Amino acid sequence: TTRFEKIHNVIFQNSVEASRIVAQEIAHLIKSKQAKNKTCVLGLATGSSPIKVYEELVRLHKEEGLSFSNVVTFNLDEYYPMNKENNQSYYYFMHQHLFNHIDIKPENVNIPDGTVSIESLNQYCVDYENKIAKAGGLDFQLLGIGRTGHVGFNEPGSHINSGTRIITLDHITRVDASSDFNGINQVPKRAITMGVSTILRSKRIVLMAWGQNKASIIKTTIQGEISSEVPATFLQNHNNVTFVLDQSAASEL
Ligand code: GLP
Repeated sequence: TTRFEKIHNVIFQNSVEASRIVAQEIAHLIKSKQAKNKTCVLGLATGSSPIKVYEELVRLHKEEGLSFSNVVTFNLDEYYPMNKENNQSYYYFMHQHLFNHIDIKPENVNIPDGTVSIESLNQYCVDYENKIAKAGGLDFQLLGIGRTGHVGFNEPGSHINSGTRIITLDHITRVDASSDFNGINQVPKRAITMGVSTILRSKRIVLMAWGQNKASIIKTTIQGEISSEVPATFLQNHNNVTFVLDQSAASEL
């Protein structure tokens, strides 16, 4: 089989339908862990791509009684430096779109802390990595993808063995973020991100991409050579990854 055939692609008419299916998979995982009295460890992403998944999870909580009491979450990344109250922070995003609306225990929510001092940053990243391992590892990792081929903020050049660390954002990534920040000069130059190896250790990975402007990077990610020049290509090495796409994002495959 070619590498392409080893990867599951699921192509939907639109992102609403696709997001509902992804949310159902997460809900099913949470419930199956509940039935065994186990915690469910979720790796979560920010950006526009997962918003409808979070909307659906909130709906399942409010209308169908889905409980998050056994859920532990680890977010992929956060800008650095970044205050939690800042509405451009991923901390703010996650609370606005998900955590404020569900019954997750606050102590079970983990988001890289953009306020850690520069001197303690390396230790902080090691601790974040260890905390994931102590929780039993990620059962499920939700991903979006940046136009540079980043997952989390693993920009081109990221090593397959990289762990949680501070990185310098790619220029294209800062251009793409500039509308959220009133111009590129306001976009932080760095971020804390889980590493490629942190992501690849997840038992299950779902990467979502919507729209024509993701079509080219999706083609490279799925059909291109595996290379740190496009870190998302490392996902080709994972044995339980699914690319959930709308028709526009899948249009160059
Ligand atoms: C940011 C995030 C990524 C995300 C990417 C794509 O860079 N750090 O995790 O995948 O944006 O964002 P969007 O989903 O808005 O296209």
